[in-house]
Amino acid sequence: MLGRMLGFARCAVLFPAVLASSLAAQTSVDSILPHIDRTGAHPALIVDGAPFLMLGAQMNNSSAFTATLPRVWPAMEELGVNTVEAPIYWEKFEPTEGSFDPSSIDLLLAQARTHNVHLVLLWFGTWKNGSPGYAPEWVKLDGKRFPLAVSKDGRQSFSMSPFAPATLAADTRAFTTLMQHLKEADPQHTVLMVQVENEAGMWGNTRDFSPQANRLFEQPVPKAVLTAMGKADAHGNWSEVFGADADGYFHAWAVSRYINQVAEAGRRVYPLPLYVNAAVSDPLHKATPGSFESGAAVADALPIWHAMCPAIDAIEPDIYLPDHASYTAVLTQYALPWNPFFVPETGNAPAYAHYFFAALGHGAFGWSPFGMDQTGYSNAPIGAEKIDTETLAPFALNYRIVAPMQRELAQWNREDRVRGSAENPDVHTETLHFAPVDGQPARWSATVSYGMPTFYSSKPAPGNAKPEGEALVVQLGPDEFLVTGVHARVDFNALVPANEQKSQRMWLSVEEGSYEQGKWKGTRLWNGDQTDYGLNFTSAAQVLRVRLTTF
Ligand code: DGJ
Repeated sequence: MLGRMLGFARCAVLFPAVLASSLAAQTSVDSILPHIDRTGAHPALIVDGAPFLMLGAQMNNSSAFTATLPRVWPAMEELGVNTVEAPIYWEKFEPTEGSFDPSSIDLLLAQARTHNVHLVLLWFGTWKNGSPGYAPEWVKLDGKRFPLAVSKDGRQSFSMSPFAPATLAADTRAFTTLMQHLKEADPQHTVLMVQVENEAGMWGNTRDFSPQANRLFEQPVPKAVLTAMGKADAHGNWSEVFGADADGYFHAWAVSRYINQVAEAGRRVYPLPLYVNAAVSDPLHKATPGSFESGAAVADALPIWHAMCPAIDAIEPDIYLPDHASYTAVLTQYALPWNPFFVPETGNAPAYAHYFFAALGHGAFGWSPFGMDQTGYSNAPIGAEKIDTETLAPFALNYRIVAPMQRELAQWNREDRVRGSAENPDVHTETLHFAPVDGQPARWSATVSYGMPTFYSSKPAPGNAKPEGEALVVQLGPDEFLVTGVHARVDFNALVPANEQKSQRMWLSVEEGSYEQGKWKGTRLWNGDQTDYGLNFTSAAQVLRVRLTTF
């Protein structure tokens, strides 16, 4: 290991030359590399030349070690993931300044390949949940070179100042060395994406109040920020322009600008898709200063992050809000046309599992519950008490249903054909509307109802005992759909003009089956009791291909 470290340290010494030669070589995106494609209705993650659906899960923060990975893989296998999100710790990667130890990257690469999954690597650098907890000791102990941010009352806060050139340079060098190593060690593209920092921002304070930060805070707001925030004609310093929101927006500007520089240097070496994740603020109420992670890529600061981070492909929400209104509001806030969307973290308690199809219906190319390993740690109450078969089951069912058609789904999502529903405990039916198809307005909508028996019922949907239902409907053609669900009933309504006689839905055929290597294989036809009362899904992992007409 020591030899390995020294060898790699020599590489690091050559770093400026390596970087310079790469800058010239990497001006265009290599189409073989995983990359983001923006030519479809929704941006897609392209892997091996085709849209990819990330069936993900993230391990706990302290699990990426030789000692603990054996307790990660069984949970990942039980879930049926195709992608594992794993941290890379700055303190372990650069234990001594300028001397890099890539063994933790190589460990993850080797084990991911053995388990036949892709990786998303999470760079725990200057910020991990807003703090410098993962900074190496030589950073932590040198507050002069690597200053902490200052709080309003002049005390130090446990978050790095985003205005320190030495911290930015050190993180940039480490991140670039990580990307350089990936470029060399991962020709098979096991790693699909890299997360730059983790939930960057600052808890407990609204911004850095160091003298340098205060000086900048009194300067006119940069034009790029004004334009991004729809205030192109405004003039003034941060308080004058943004009032009570000034601190949060100022810190967002400072942190996003910093991260963009780290990302830009890294992608020049190796242009994998890069993203940042956000500790979201309350999506249903205007968050007050101090009540959320200041400077984070929260919904109302997204325009600033987007404008300041051209080197970042996507800005994603970590969703630990199990109630229906909040969860779906966050999906809407981040599934924006410019934002290649996926959910990099969500709670691992069973209450979260039924949001998978809703995320797909918002155009997500991936979804990843957090803390999915058996290292014995639980992040309850935001997650499950324990990671056992019962906890994993609803998440595993999600992935079992879609795994055989994962590539098809990713392509359908790119074409905006996918709609999803998550059971709302307060409203027990949901109508799904579809995009125009073949240049014509959609001819059908779908109604999902929850808590219905599989046979008949004249009563309105009562909802399931627990809100665990979900449904996914894909418009394959004007009168053809792919349908699946969990504890849900799905039916269709013809969208015909009022004067039209033939307005009632008739099943032309309902075929259960699955995709095998890109081809639909039917196994049986549903009819009689199985279709007379809608298409009723339990926890049986069934996928139906449905053709409709009217009478
Ligand atoms: C969000 C962070 O990004 C994760 O690393 C983890 O700390 C969870 N919160 C809480 O378990």
